[in-house]
Amino acid sequence: MEATIEKQIKNAGDLVHTAEESLLEIEDLTITIDSVKKDLVKQIDLSIKAGEMLGLVGESGSGKSLTATALLGLLPSSLQITGGTIRLGNHQITSLSEKEMRQVRGKEIAYVSQNYQSFFTPFIKIGKQFVEVIQSHSPTKKSEAKKIVRYWLNKVNLPADRVFNSYPFQLSGGQLQRAAIACAILLRPRLIIADEPTTALDVLTGEKILDLLRGLQKELNCAILLITHDLKHVMNRSDEIAIMYGGQILERGRTCDVYQNPAHPYTRLLFQSRLQLSKEVTKELRTIYGEPGLIAEKGCPFARRCPYVFEACNEIPQIKTVSDAHWVACHAAN
Ligand SMILES: Nc1ncnc2c1ncn2[C@@H]1O[C@H](COP(=O)(O)OP(=O)(O)O)[C@@H](O)[C@H]1O
Ligand code: SF4
Ligand SMILES: [Mg+2]
Repeated sequence: MEATIEKQIKNAGDLVHTAEESLLEIEDLTITIDSVKKDLVKQIDLSIKAGEMLGLVGESGSGKSLTATALLGLLPSSLQITGGTIRLGNHQITSLSEKEMRQVRGKEIAYVSQNYQSFFTPFIKIGKQFVEVIQSHSPTKKSEAKKIVRYWLNKVNLPADRVFNSYPFQLSGGQLQRAAIACAILLRPRLIIADEPTTALDVLTGEKILDLLRGLQKELNCAILLITHDLKHVMNRSDEIAIMYGGQILERGRTCDVYQNPAHPYTRLLFQSRLQLSKEVTKELRTIYGEPGLIAEKGCPFARRCPYVFEACNEIPQIKTVSDAHWVACHAAN
């Protein structure tokens, strides 16, 4: 019986995941505070291939969550998309109605956040909540839905029977985040957005959650947008990496290319300032000058913190190709 469910679930997934060059394509996206006409996210370009992981990295306040919120069609009414397009598969997200967007959320895009505590309703058992998710998307007998839920709880390495019959407060943080991930992948989405999924967890539990996501991505051929402020979360996991600062993408490329040849001063400082447990603790840790969120009003957004700033930086830098699929926005880059 278990094998039959597994086959059904796999087949359903195969129907959804067709081979596409790029599953998600964000072009020129600009998000603006309507009342004061201030751009918080400026003309960003991002794409993710089907089944791949993109790491979106940047300090707090750089615009990562706003980008994710725009993808989900959930920006607050005070903020507006004032430019650009977002395409997911055949959907032009920016032109869907709220009713159409509801279909896309959950079924095609799933969302995992740091707030796993609020993912589940507190006083309803986990299993019942999963069953409701399945039944709200397709008519499924309760007994069948229960088997599907157990399958996915096992998949994220949770004791399925116990978790199924538990209330959210009876699980640890790590278990609850695993359950949230199981619920996110239940409907076989094509894209999972994981926005700082480990921030509220201890380091080792967080690492295990990130490894779990990477494993599921490979096994289910599901694309992941992994948002983090911590470069080391994505270094050995994501296929591509995008560095964000002041609402703009400063560098973008295959992770191995960016690692071997970081071209933007901000990327290089991020590499230098990350804590390397393998190095001697006495060695001084390089920090990035200035407060996070110090954004230049015009020209390069990093100009107020950049050690290499010069006159030309008053103008917005053009995109320069570093190597195939690796580019940077900096006047000083060759
Ligand atoms: N609803 C909002 N109204 C006004 N400004 C906002 C709103 N949401 C976020 N911001 C601002 O937009 C910037 C980017 O926020 P956010 O995307 O949450 O950053 P990140 O996720 O990278 O930490 C921040 O300066 C934040 O204060
Ligand atoms: S454009 Fe200028 S200020 Fe910006 S990162 Fe490059 S050198 Fe620094
Ligand atoms: Mg955020």
